[in-house]
Amino acid sequence: MMAKPKKISPADIAKLTRAQAKVEHMRLTLEIEAHNERYYQKDAPTVSDAEYDALRQRLLAIEAKFPELVTGESPSQKVGAAPARGFAKVQHAVPMLSLGNAFSDADVTEFVERVRRFLKLDTEHVPALVAEPKIDGLSLSLRYENGELVRAATRGDGFTGEDVTANVRTIKDIPHALKGRNIPAACEMRGEVYMLKKDFLELNRKQAEADDTVFANPRNSAAGSLRQKDVSITASRPLKFFAYTWGEMSERPADTQHGMLEWMGRAGFVVNPRTRLCKDVDAVLEFYAEIAQERATLGYDIDGVVYKVDRLDWQDRLGFVSRSPRWAIAHKFAAEQAMTVLNGIDIQVGRTGALTPVARLEPVTVGGVVVSNATLHNEDYIKGIGNDGNPIRDGVDLRVGDTVIVQRAGDVIPQVVGVVMDKRPKNAKPYKFPETCPVCGSHAVREEDEAVRRCTGALICPAQAVERLKHFVSRLAFDIDGLGDKQIQEFYRDGLVMSAVDIFTLQKRDARSQSKLMQREGYGETSVRNLFAAIDARRSIELHRLIYALGIRHVGEGNAKLLARHYGTFEAFRDAMLAAAKGGTGEANTTEAYQELNDIGGVGEIVADAVVEFFAEPRNVKALGQLIDELDEVKPAERPRKSSPVSDKTVVFTGSLTKFTRDEAKAVAERLGAKVAGSVSKKTDYLVAGEDAGSKLTKARELGIAVLSEDDWLKLIGE
Ligand code: IVH
Repeated sequence: MMAKPKKISPADIAKLTRAQAKVEHMRLTLEIEAHNERYYQKDAPTVSDAEYDALRQRLLAIEAKFPELVTGESPSQKVGAAPARGFAKVQHAVPMLSLGNAFSDADVTEFVERVRRFLKLDTEHVPALVAEPKIDGLSLSLRYENGELVRAATRGDGFTGEDVTANVRTIKDIPHALKGRNIPAACEMRGEVYMLKKDFLELNRKQAEADDTVFANPRNSAAGSLRQKDVSITASRPLKFFAYTWGEMSERPADTQHGMLEWMGRAGFVVNPRTRLCKDVDAVLEFYAEIAQERATLGYDIDGVVYKVDRLDWQDRLGFVSRSPRWAIAHKFAAEQAMTVLNGIDIQVGRTGALTPVARLEPVTVGGVVVSNATLHNEDYIKGIGNDGNPIRDGVDLRVGDTVIVQRAGDVIPQVVGVVMDKRPKNAKPYKFPETCPVCGSHAVREEDEAVRRCTGALICPAQAVERLKHFVSRLAFDIDGLGDKQIQEFYRDGLVMSAVDIFTLQKRDARSQSKLMQREGYGETSVRNLFAAIDARRSIELHRLIYALGIRHVGEGNAKLLARHYGTFEAFRDAMLAAAKGGTGEANTTEAYQELNDIGGVGEIVADAVVEFFAEPRNVKALGQLIDELDEVKPAERPRKSSPVSDKTVVFTGSLTKFTRDEAKAVAERLGAKVAGSVSKKTDYLVAGEDAGSKLTKARELGIAVLSEDDWLKLIGE
């Protein structure tokens, strides 16, 4: 949320009289105290950290000049020197991933089939699954060393979380020391912090009575209660914890999921009693139906059931794809629905020029949230046709005035899933999708095989430019305090910021300009100074943020991280992309750099092509160069920490493999930090050759590259 710039009286402390200083000191004290309360007690700050720091600095400057104002009551004395706002960061030794979703019985059957195919199990072998309720709370990682709790961290973005050790020590369900013998030396237990529904209601009642924050649901109230700077507040909140998985573990006390859960119970954790070992798909579906029945009486919120392959050796072989394990899936409960009226259809133009229709709805409450608009995706979706060309909503189109069924599931954006035909107004007309861009008037065209209609005015369309800039400063990209959607829109309109690099030359240009930023409405000396400071702070940026900020199609946060981790430094990334861009897109591109890009686990051809197209456009490369010139540093990405005999080695698999499948070999190699390539080159370190290896083997021999049999490979990686 953007804070309103606070009016701070003239910075000129030197000129303050004693009486003025006293008044100003009092005003600052009250303001800082109010912010402290909102931040520490309510988890709901209304100013940015930079603005808060500016207030404190001003207070300190006044106290330096008028020391008699320093009393025990001054904020400068209460929290010690500049208090650390927020929590320290913790890098997870093993990332905290998410789960893939299943929404139907068929999805679950398909999941089990995938598992069997991957493991090459014959028809008699059906993998047993452990079914666990999917708790709707927040996940936590607890690190025990020699049995003692040493660190607790939230999930964060999955790679880096927040240090909440002190808070967690107040939760009764979480042991400070593990019980029993044979405790692994290093052991990271993971699970969910949650609040019982009755405790949530009682807490809200008390909060309302005290005129304090009222939480929207048990999940938010658990999160807000855990993330408190004042640990005594956490201690007073009825937080609970279920253990269900683990991160780093020096030895495993059991070799099955259910065995691990039993061990967790013996070690002193609470394990969900509604957990069941199921022998096949029918058994898990039966469990799902039972839990769905019991859902309302469980006492806590769940949003589905998680199924996990029981055998841990199989879990290991299955490994991960992109951000979720292949050995587990979340079977979600059906979404909540409501009926309302479609008042209109607006067209938004995104940063890639895509025209996205948005439903304007008569506001309606769906699952506790007021919904007034919903995405309609594209032209076909309005017509009642899905991505795959098959009818959705039974092929019924959407018309303005229709009574529609709106659905939302968890955090998913609301969708219009049905039309009540009986209520369709007689005069309702089919919606005509615009063929020109509503913002710049350029033709909007739809390419063959594409569902999306795009504005063709890439370089002249203000909507695209503004959306690209908004993306550039957004939270997962450059995340510049004080430069949000609203400011971007205004600065663009006034010609101050037309491209990303302009953000970083703003101060230089402002110094030369007659009409200074300071004179703009809503700005004063302090807010301008803070804005420039916030921009300067981002002249040093993490590589994945930079890649994400470029706004390349299909390169979201996850792919940006994969690319950053793979290439390590900005220079390596850029050089590789420029090399790949020389070869065009798709199979026609035979450059080694393109092969390598395509072979990064989790990055497919669609993403690779989008990145290559970006770098093939000289104007993009030029703009990127200008941006880099204004930055001080692009921080290299953290490489996977674990070292293994094959970390950073490039491996190629060829021939028919008998001990493992190709996918499995690739997943294992990547987990151990190796790069898996599709073709042999000078950069290849090992060629693992199965039976009937052909040209790759010949080439490897020619280049003198180490050739391994499947057994050699297993020996090398220690399996
Ligand atoms: S296992 C590798 N088991 O669901 C993934 N997750 O969508 C390991 N969750 O972030 C997660 N109950 O916060 C697992 N019994 C359960 C769970 C559970 C709730 C949450 C967890 C995770 C999210 C994934």
